[in-house]
Amino acid sequence: MRFSLLAVPAFLLAAQAAVIVPGATWTDTSGNVIQAHGGGFLKVGSTVYWFGEDKAANSALFSAVSCYSSTDLMTWTRQNNALTPIANTMISNANIVERPKVIFNKANSEYVMWFHSDTSNYGAAMVGVATAKTPCGPYTYKGSFKPLGAESRDMGIFQDDDAAQTAYLLYASDNNQNFKISRLDANYYNITAQVNVLTGSTLEAPGIVKRNGLYYLFASHTSGWDPNPNRWFVASSISSAFSAQADIAPEPVRTYFSQNNYDFPLGTNAIYMGDRWRPTLLGSSRYIWLPMSWTSGSPQLIWADVWSVNLAAGTFSVATGTSYEAENGVVAGSATIPADPSFSGGKAVGFLGNGGTVTITVQGIGAAQWVSLYYANGDSTWRSTTVSVNGGASVVVDQPNTGGGHVILSVPVKLNLKSGSNTITIGAGQTTFAADLDKIIVYTAT
Ligand SMILES: *[C@@H]1O[C@H](CO)[C@@H](O)[C@H](O)[C@H]1NC(C)=O
Repeated sequence: MRFSLLAVPAFLLAAQAAVIVPGATWTDTSGNVIQAHGGGFLKVGSTVYWFGEDKAANSALFSAVSCYSSTDLMTWTRQNNALTPIANTMISNANIVERPKVIFNKANSEYVMWFHSDTSNYGAAMVGVATAKTPCGPYTYKGSFKPLGAESRDMGIFQDDDAAQTAYLLYASDNNQNFKISRLDANYYNITAQVNVLTGSTLEAPGIVKRNGLYYLFASHTSGWDPNPNRWFVASSISSAFSAQADIAPEPVRTYFSQNNYDFPLGTNAIYMGDRWRPTLLGSSRYIWLPMSWTSGSPQLIWADVWSVNLAAGTFSVATGTSYEAENGVVAGSATIPADPSFSGGKAVGFLGNGGTVTITVQGIGAAQWVSLYYANGDSTWRSTTVSVNGGASVVVDQPNTGGGHVILSVPVKLNLKSGSNTITIGAGQTTFAADLDKIIVYTAT
């Protein structure tokens, strides 16, 4: 039997489109969970390489700098490890290697990796350097040192677009009090001079995007593994004074529970690439990538449950879904309907779990579809909730703490929905309390 292209149902075509789903468990083309935390990115021709910390062992200690490749930023294939431990050195498996960043040195035709190099108590506060002739290496370790004799913890690398492709280390220094920018030498092996300092700024997790000749710096503040409102700053040159800090997202959402690791230029905008750290289960830390748009005149994150990138065109597209208010569902057992203006529709469903449930009827397209749960979890612990489709077995969805009050975040879950009406039940068979549920959004993306 033959179909013309027009006869293929739309959802089958949609099934082939790759998407970015912040906070989901991302897998590579082999089906394994992507382990590339604190990542760095390098575009070589039409291929993008993603270097990051492999935390599969759920330990902060060094196991590998992984290397993944993609031509669309959404489909990733794991390559050989770029850097692995060497006993009795600063990159042994008893030490710390974080935030690997790679740039290409065209004069030497060499890839140069910089990373935060530390001892297990973060007392050494160094950078490490390694080199390779191919993007994924494996890299040859050159050594670790304190740049200009000063501490360096969370760091990034910025390579400018001048003829010499001058590169800079961006780093939290002096017990994370002062944030510094220092110039690399022509080989990218060492530091030659400090060119800027944001004294007393307590910044870490930095990245720079150059746009219309201006240097936009992004960084978090210091709150350990916990999220905080990440900021942007702008300067007319790498060595001139940066503007006062400003938010890249509404402060209460704490950068949608994430911390900056890299800022990837995309056309006239950028992609914010953040880590949603889970310190008790580091390998289950998730990636929060969001469009960063200058439409308002300043760089602001756009929350997107499901979105896609056209890397060649330098554009992005945010999916729209169908929204269902939780309070319009069938509320059962001990569940309640709290009212608060911060909930959409002014209401949510509370006391879910422990005998409280809500069942929401939604329309499906007959596929495994992304569904986002918008929730508020007012305490300082992570919660979770059960989700069951059409009375079937429940899946458990983690709900990171939203930091108090009625701050709303969303978490994604992929659900098998049949074509037409489905019921989604939240909180069934759950012996703990889930977060309050504001609404759910059903996407046709698969
Ligand atoms: C790196 O630069 C510093 C400061 O200029 C210098 O003291 C040090 O010897 C250099 N390291 C290497 C390996 O060249």
